[in-house]
Amino acid sequence: SEKLLLDVDPGIDDALAILMALGNDDVDVVGLTTVMGNTTVENTTRNALALLEFVDRTDVPVARGAGRPFADELVMAEYVHGPGGVPETVREALPEPSTDPVDRHAVDFILDQADEHGDELTIAAVGPQTNLALALAKDPSLPDRIGGIYQMGGALKTTGNVTPQASFNFYVDAAAAARVVQDGWPTVVGLDVTEPAYLPPAAQERFRGHGAYGDVVADILEYKAQGPDGTVAEGGSITSDAVVLAGILGDPITYEEAYVEIDTTGGPSNGATVYDEHGVYEKPPNCTVALDVDVERCRELILSNLETLLPG
Ligand code: BDR
Ligand code: CA
Repeated sequence: SEKLLLDVDPGIDDALAILMALGNDDVDVVGLTTVMGNTTVENTTRNALALLEFVDRTDVPVARGAGRPFADELVMAEYVHGPGGVPETVREALPEPSTDPVDRHAVDFILDQADEHGDELTIAAVGPQTNLALALAKDPSLPDRIGGIYQMGGALKTTGNVTPQASFNFYVDAAAAARVVQDGWPTVVGLDVTEPAYLPPAAQERFRGHGAYGDVVADILEYKAQGPDGTVAEGGSITSDAVVLAGILGDPITYEEAYVEIDTTGGPSNGATVYDEHGVYEKPPNCTVALDVDVERCRELILSNLETLLPG
């Protein structure tokens, strides 16, 4: 089966992405690497370990990664995810982790997994791109050796969610995002497809009251619906990282090859996605971008994969 490494900053939509992957038999989660972003790397690492323990999957290794962006000061999103990266109710439901991260930095863990699994390995980086950019710096051959890299980040035609131009993950470490776009041959899944595929409130009913796991999923969806980026109608929950996973586990997303740059100039557009839609640069494509999403299929992929971990 396909090997999947998730580079994450849980973070509540990260948590959903992790749970979807664990619930899907077609992919084998070879590890989680953690990065600062929604909260500190101490917190994202603890949240990752706690989540794995909660679903009885402490066999999945966690490797701790970068604690700050290359150049930018760290901006976090606890205002979206909760203090420490998860809502209070979720923190109370998750166990104190009894396991530790592996004794290997995330960057080396990523390269080890590439050595071991080669082109069977897919990496989904759904937080700031710092770990992947460091891995590419250490070993520029990484993209040639693996199956592919997915990034959650960017806003091609839509507006940003942290500034008018930029998506959170690319804003936090714009230099890292730029390197991965330039050097990683990534598939860039941005807000253009993740926001329209928000989950309506009725989705919570499929989980609420179905044991501790169901309540955690419902709590996450409910909390995300109240978040400041919840600009969608009807109190829906934007779960960007889960949408990226839906695109890996199924095919609700339409992609196109394109030439893209990430703005690193430090001004009001820092971290913005410069998408050469009409090919005015006349440069060959450097990545694949997500353009459109079949919203209903995407929602069903997210919810059905989350449901597989509900108690039978
Ligand atoms: C992205 O930013 C983070 O807050 C989320 O976890 C997601 O990865 C959405 O812009
Ligand atoms: Ca994330």
